[in-house]
Amino acid sequence: MPRYLEQPEMGKILSLSKRRGFVFQSSEIYGGLNATWDYGPLGVELKRNVKDAWWRSVVHERDDVVGLDAAILMNPQVWVTSGHVESFSDPLVECRECHHRFRLEDLPEGSGCPDCGGPLTDPRQFNLMFKTFMGPTEDSANQVYLRPETAQGIFVNFANVLVSSRRKLPFGIAQIGKAFRNEITPGNFTFRTREFEQMEIEYFVKPGTDDECLDAWVKERMAWYIRYGIREENLRLRRHGEDELAHYARDCYDIQYRFPWGWGELEGIANRTDYDLRHHGEASGDDLSYFDDAAKERYYPYVIEPSGGVDRAALAFLLDAYDEEPDSPTAEKADVRVVLKFHKDIAPYKVALLPLSRNERLVPTARRVFEMVRRRFAAQYDDSQSIGRRYRRQDEIGTPYCVTVDFDTLEDEAVTIRDRDTMEQERVPIEGLVGALADRLDKDR
Ligand code: GAP
Repeated sequence: MPRYLEQPEMGKILSLSKRRGFVFQSSEIYGGLNATWDYGPLGVELKRNVKDAWWRSVVHERDDVVGLDAAILMNPQVWVTSGHVESFSDPLVECRECHHRFRLEDLPEGSGCPDCGGPLTDPRQFNLMFKTFMGPTEDSANQVYLRPETAQGIFVNFANVLVSSRRKLPFGIAQIGKAFRNEITPGNFTFRTREFEQMEIEYFVKPGTDDECLDAWVKERMAWYIRYGIREENLRLRRHGEDELAHYARDCYDIQYRFPWGWGELEGIANRTDYDLRHHGEASGDDLSYFDDAAKERYYPYVIEPSGGVDRAALAFLLDAYDEEPDSPTAEKADVRVVLKFHKDIAPYKVALLPLSRNERLVPTARRVFEMVRRRFAAQYDDSQSIGRRYRRQDEIGTPYCVTVDFDTLEDEAVTIRDRDTMEQERVPIEGLVGALADRLDKDR
């Protein structure tokens, strides 16, 4: 879909998010909590659509992936075995004067404090896992962690899923859920926060087929962002250098998006080898190896892991959809139409039902049509202010179709469908409205 604007300013996105109810600062009435955000009425729809689009393409449209929803709190031994207690840390330095803290890797080598110029302490390792206590006694025996990745819930359920769903390699387990990291420097709106949602797949393969499988998932995941509307020129791949690989990874690619502040990671696709299954198998005493019937051999499967962030994906979809169109390019002083050109599956609402006015003759028909439409699609009823302003309001939140009920409707039992992108209007009979909307909404799938 063509765009007039290459990239929106972050200020416009922040203001739209708050004004229209995509994202609010968390606990705002108490001054907020650093880098935590709440999703408003439109944001929650957007996020659900992102998760549904992901689930559809990695679980429902495939034969080889099943789902899981594991608990956030896990036996703390999980995090010892996974290596997170030992290695999930960032080197942190602190300014001796202003006491601000920074990730060492964010600073140029040998620099002083970026805020006040003061001297910095030597780096120390700072573990990013949040700790809390389970039960009434706050001692170390009752300490548990808020999971920093959803992946471990999948690894410890590997045998349960394998047996209960009678799977054979290669197959994957997908999961969406909250993760928590005590980030030293959160920021850039919802890009880096301490509480966020992940969409992860652990895809189990025979060792030796892992490199090929990694390549296939990289292509598949890149295609997903494009399928749901991100412009190709705003995406790129970056392979990790040896020195930046996570403690469990042998290879990793990041899918990056061109955010207004620069390129940033949307998703990582890693080859985790047999690191997790082997360590959990050995530490728990449960056999997490796999018997390959065809090859008559037993081994620990290797794991390819596409791991994306829901919040980052939602932010990228929002940024990429934002456009400002000159209302009338030929007019001397053109007005601007702000429009979110979301893919139809990602748009928070699919249809808006707009009676021409609040005239009491129109309302019963408009309500009847609305009841029909909302049973099938996420729909809004809006009858305040002029029809022109209502179209603009729906454009600004990316609603693909507006349906107008006017006085002719009372005579001909037909309504007008107006298209967000072309602004073209078409008259259709009420009887065929749901089908007409479904055809239009399905067209891009
Ligand atoms: N299980 C592998 C794993 O967790 P990761 O690269 O650390 O890998 C995966 O995280 C994805 O989770 C990232 O690509 C990003 O989209 C999201 N993510 C990670 N930390 C985040 C944070 N602090 N705030 C928002 N999203 C985050």
